[in-house]
Amino acid sequence: MVESAARRGHEVDQSTEQRARDMAGRDDFPIKGFSHLEWWVGNAYQTSMFLRSVLGFSITGYRGPETGTPDTASYLLQQGDVTFVITGAMTPDHPLSRHLTLHGPGVRDVAIAVPDARVAFEMAVDRGAEPATEPHVVEDAQGRAVLSAIEAYGDTLHSFVERDGDLPGFETRADATAAPIGLQFIDHVVANVELGRMDEWVEFYERVFGFTLLKHFDDDAISTEYTALMSKVMWDGSGIIKLPINEPAEGLKRSQIDEYLDFYRGPGVQHIALHTGDLMATVTETHSRGLTTLNVPDTYYEDLWERIPALDVDRDRFMGLRLLADADEGGQLLQIFTRMLQDRPTVFFEFIERRGATGFGKGNLKALFEAIEREQAKRGNL
Ligand code: FE2
Repeated sequence: MVESAARRGHEVDQSTEQRARDMAGRDDFPIKGFSHLEWWVGNAYQTSMFLRSVLGFSITGYRGPETGTPDTASYLLQQGDVTFVITGAMTPDHPLSRHLTLHGPGVRDVAIAVPDARVAFEMAVDRGAEPATEPHVVEDAQGRAVLSAIEAYGDTLHSFVERDGDLPGFETRADATAAPIGLQFIDHVVANVELGRMDEWVEFYERVFGFTLLKHFDDDAISTEYTALMSKVMWDGSGIIKLPINEPAEGLKRSQIDEYLDFYRGPGVQHIALHTGDLMATVTETHSRGLTTLNVPDTYYEDLWERIPALDVDRDRFMGLRLLADADEGGQLLQIFTRMLQDRPTVFFEFIERRGATGFGKGNLKALFEAIEREQAKRGNL
C-alpha cells in the first residue's frame, strides 16, 4: 500500500517513501494537534457572522466564486489557536447540499495537523483507514500546505494538514473589530456513534493513530433516573488530541445520544470543547451577546462546595452564571455547555477552563444530564 500510493501521488520523493515505510512499523502516529474543524452549513456567511458576533471569532479569510471556487463559499475563522472553516454550497447538487439535507449543519472534517500529510495518509490507509482524499498540494501567496483525508465515523472526515502558516487557499481578510471572548484552543471533540459501535471506533483510533484509552465511563457512571450513555476517551498520549466517543446505553427513556443520532441521521460530532483561561469572563461575555448556556439546577450547587472545598471562585458569580466544576487528582476544571447551535438538537459547544484537572467533568455529568433531559422533555423527545 505504501509503495503503490507513493507511485500514485505526485511529488513523493524517495525520502517520503522511506519515511512512510519506517513509520508504518511504529506504534506512534506523528501528529501536531488539531488543525481546524470544517463545518458544512446552509449559509456560511450567516454562520460566520454568528460565530463572529457571539463568540468573537475573527473572519480572516474567504474563498468562493470570486476567488476561483465556483461551487462553495468558505470563511476562515480564528480565535487564539482555534481555527474553523465555515462552508456553504452554491448549488443543490454539491455533496454539501446532500449532507446538509440529511444531517443539518454540522462538522464535516475534524482536521489534524501533521508533520507530513503524505506519510500520515499512507500510514492510516496502511492500517485500514478508508482513504477519502489523496495527498495533494495547495499553494498560494499565503503559504503552502499538503492535504489528505481519511473517512471517520459517519460522514465525518479526518483531514491531515501539513502546513507551517495559515491555511492556504483563502483570500486574506482584515477583521480589526472582532471582539474575542478568550477562547484559546480546541480541548476535545466528541463523537456520538450508534449503540454497540463505540468499541469499534476505540479500536479504530488505537489501530490507525496509536491512540490509547484515557478514561472509561461505564453506563453506571453516567446515568440518571431516565437515561444513560457510555463514553470512552481516546487520546494521543500527550493531551494535544482528545476524542471522547459516546454511544447510547439502555435507560428508561431515550437518551440525548439517541436524540442526536435520530436528528443527525447517524454518527457525527456532538460537541466541541473550547478552552478559555477565564471561564467566568468568557461566559459573562457570551451571555451579554445573547447566547445562552445550560441552565444548571439549584440542587447542583447544594453540595458543590463540600465536593470541591478548594474551589477558588467567586461563589455568587459562579452560581449566577450557572457554571459547573469538577476535580480530579490533577486539579480542578470549570466548564459549561452552550445551547444547541442549530435548529436540530445535534451540535453544541463546551467552554472549559482547566486548572490542572485532566478529566472531563465526570462528577458533573449526572447533574448535567438531568438538566439536558429537562430541555429534551420540552422538545417531546424524552
Ligand atoms: Fe466535553
